[in-house]
Amino acid sequence: MNWKSDSWKSFEVKQMPAYNDKKKLDSVLSDLSKYPPLIFAGETRSLKKKISEVQKGKAFYLQGGDCAESFLELNPNTIRDTFKLLLQMSVVLTYATNSPVVKLGRIAGQFAKPRSSDMEEKNGVSLPSYRGDIINSYEFSKEAREPDPDRMIRAYNHSASTLNLLRAFAQGGFASLSQLSKWNLDFAENFPSMKKYSEISKKIEDSINFINACGIDENNTRELRETDFYTSHEALLLPYEQAFTRIDSTTGDWYNVSSHFLWVGDRTRDPDGAHIHYLSGIKNPIGLKVGPTTDVDQLKKNIEILNPDNEEGRLTLIVRMGANKISDIFPKLLKEFKSLGQNITWICDPMHGNTITSTSGYKTRNSKDVLAEIKNFFDIHNAEGTIAGGVHLELTGLNVTECVGGPEDIKDENLGDRYHTFCDPRLNVNQSLELCFLLADLFPKSTITNNK
Ligand code: PEP
Ligand code: CO
Repeated sequence: MNWKSDSWKSFEVKQMPAYNDKKKLDSVLSDLSKYPPLIFAGETRSLKKKISEVQKGKAFYLQGGDCAESFLELNPNTIRDTFKLLLQMSVVLTYATNSPVVKLGRIAGQFAKPRSSDMEEKNGVSLPSYRGDIINSYEFSKEAREPDPDRMIRAYNHSASTLNLLRAFAQGGFASLSQLSKWNLDFAENFPSMKKYSEISKKIEDSINFINACGIDENNTRELRETDFYTSHEALLLPYEQAFTRIDSTTGDWYNVSSHFLWVGDRTRDPDGAHIHYLSGIKNPIGLKVGPTTDVDQLKKNIEILNPDNEEGRLTLIVRMGANKISDIFPKLLKEFKSLGQNITWICDPMHGNTITSTSGYKTRNSKDVLAEIKNFFDIHNAEGTIAGGVHLELTGLNVTECVGGPEDIKDENLGDRYHTFCDPRLNVNQSLELCFLLADLFPKSTITNNK
């Protein structure tokens, strides 16, 4: 059938909230469809080109941020600290791998959450599950859990102000390499990972002094002064996505202008479903989660639907199997798709297959499992001679205690100290930098030196 921005409605839609006030829903969507775009189509084309470099092993893919953004946390310091952390990670990776890092935040639009169950039960009371701030509220009451269309307007406003700040950080001097030592996070000064980071920053500063002396400096070289930072979120709430699906005047193609990159989650990846159909029609670079129950034929079908012209940089497969399962399932899958010779960028999400409930009842992840899944992912690619392109992480620049383990050895009993997430547990600064140092060791050996 011919694709249109609303043709997804003829397909089965999973994870859709039930809006009671249809009139209000239509009026909100009609307003949103006239709001200014958050990003430009041309920016997504640059991102696609960069991802095609990742696919060839010539760049590293770093995607990270909250599991779910929250209206309550619209705070410049929070945005700045997560941005800083991603900058620090990317500098370590660039230095260690001699490769550019493509930076994407799970940010400025990551508000809708898929749920395993439609209802949540507490003390004998059953209410609709929390589906992210763009749909309903986290609070456990009947009113709060009612899907409210007005929340889409708030999500748009929140995304716009977040993105405005991110653009200022990326292009207004904050991300200049001469500011390297200022990216340190105050609370992290004495963290073990910071010592290692400081050593690397010192070496980078020496290199910058050298190239400055050669006449290349931030006044004449954009790359030293600014960075490119892209936004991404799960394309889950299709009415909202439809309102931001517009025709690009330069090319005449459809683009989603609410985010540079969109992905389909593990629960909505049915090739006959509405989410896959929707993504097939937009020209942005897109992602698809590949969980442990992925069926090879379904994945083939999805690849055909999502990338029929086999374009480079178009499709990123985000593998999230779990540290234990990945070694059993992924090698066969990778072999199969390698033989098809398709343009696929493979990255690892070491978070979503490793979620556990701690003895004290917190949803958590063990940093050891996260690192183990990444190591396995790189080893499997190494053995097959294919490219492990990078990672997709849930992390924050805040000093949280949500995942156990890591350099501070957070234990189950410490989780309650600073457990702030509204959805899945995130890596904190120390845990993220530890992971980044592991990546710095893995990437050159497995990818760059072998495939450049
Ligand atoms: C997520 O990325 O937050 C998520 C829900 O992932 P998945 O679809 O892989 O479960
Ligand atoms: Co999550």
